[in-house]
Amino acid sequence: MIHNFNGGPSILPKEVFEEASKAILNFNNTGLSILEIGHRTSLFQPVLDEAVALAKELMQLDDEHEILFLHGGASTQFMQVPMNLLGDKETAAYLDCGTWGLKAIKEAKLFGQVNVVGSSGDKGYTYIPKGYEIPSDSKYFHYTTNNTIEGTELFDIPETNVPLVADMSSDILSHVMDFNRFDLIYAGAQKNIGAAGVNMVVVKKDILGKVDRKIPSMLDYRQHIANGSMLNTPPVFAIYVCMLTLRWLKNLGGVAAIESINNQKASLLYNALDTLPIFTPTVAKADRSKMNVVFVMPNKTLEEEFKTLAKQEGMVGIGGHRSVGGFRISLYNALPLNSVEIFVGLMNAFARRKG
Ligand SMILES: Cc1ncc(COP(=O)(O)O)c(C=O)c1O
Repeated sequence: MIHNFNGGPSILPKEVFEEASKAILNFNNTGLSILEIGHRTSLFQPVLDEAVALAKELMQLDDEHEILFLHGGASTQFMQVPMNLLGDKETAAYLDCGTWGLKAIKEAKLFGQVNVVGSSGDKGYTYIPKGYEIPSDSKYFHYTTNNTIEGTELFDIPETNVPLVADMSSDILSHVMDFNRFDLIYAGAQKNIGAAGVNMVVVKKDILGKVDRKIPSMLDYRQHIANGSMLNTPPVFAIYVCMLTLRWLKNLGGVAAIESINNQKASLLYNALDTLPIFTPTVAKADRSKMNVVFVMPNKTLEEEFKTLAKQEGMVGIGGHRSVGGFRISLYNALPLNSVEIFVGLMNAFARRKG
């Protein structure tokens, strides 16, 4: 039995894999593979429409917000956001709370002025900055809701009147929140939404069209909205997998239902980390991520020993990001509670043996 704790691309529901495999051979009994159907056909359009409708329903979005499925990974959004929203002479506020946010800051500087209003870079991004001010004349405020690499998460939406932009790549749809508070949300699909190769972007229409620069068609949100995410050939299969994953989430009871399971998984693991001295969580308690749990052990030898044992027991993807080391256990929506129970059982057994 494999327990997949990969940071992304990561585990998806078994039902999704089964359905997607069937569709590769024979999509909806058409005798055609999902991989060979035209995107502008009566076969694919319902897939895209259902994905959009499910995302809207699960996020309880109002009619001001559009949903797009775009190419390019979340990294493309690092530049697409400022290209569409930030004029050369205007300033956007950014929170520097992890590796990905820092990359977003670097790209934004290509298009306008960036005011880094808070940073946790002084302590290796092991906490979420607090008490920062967002100047009211900022064009927008950008932050990363979950720091996939460092293992911190921001659950409360910052109080501000400035338009909010968030990178939710690694915690979207994992807990209930008021998604309507955001003017723009983006997320690479490969963690909680579906397969790699597509981004979901939620954008409030009235923030667009306010910068002077010329925007290439493929990077212009307005053109994507006008063309229903079909300005060019969309990533058909990746969108299909998103649709199946969103369907799975709805059938499970939606975001509130998955939040309750996610809470159980995170408490189980953090509780073990807090009670077994051989394992040390690396981030501030108040800012712990429920999606990516990061910890270290007293030395490399013990870490290697535990990793080898975990591998023998079928645990996959538990090593920390190459920039952090130690361990990172990703608890995305599709990861069953049972995998966490088995992993925690292994931690307990290892700690007993070493203690
Ligand atoms: C929070 C966050 N933002 C952005 C990215 C970059 O995503 P992509 O590789 O799809 O460009 C990742 C990837 O893991 C991420 O976790």
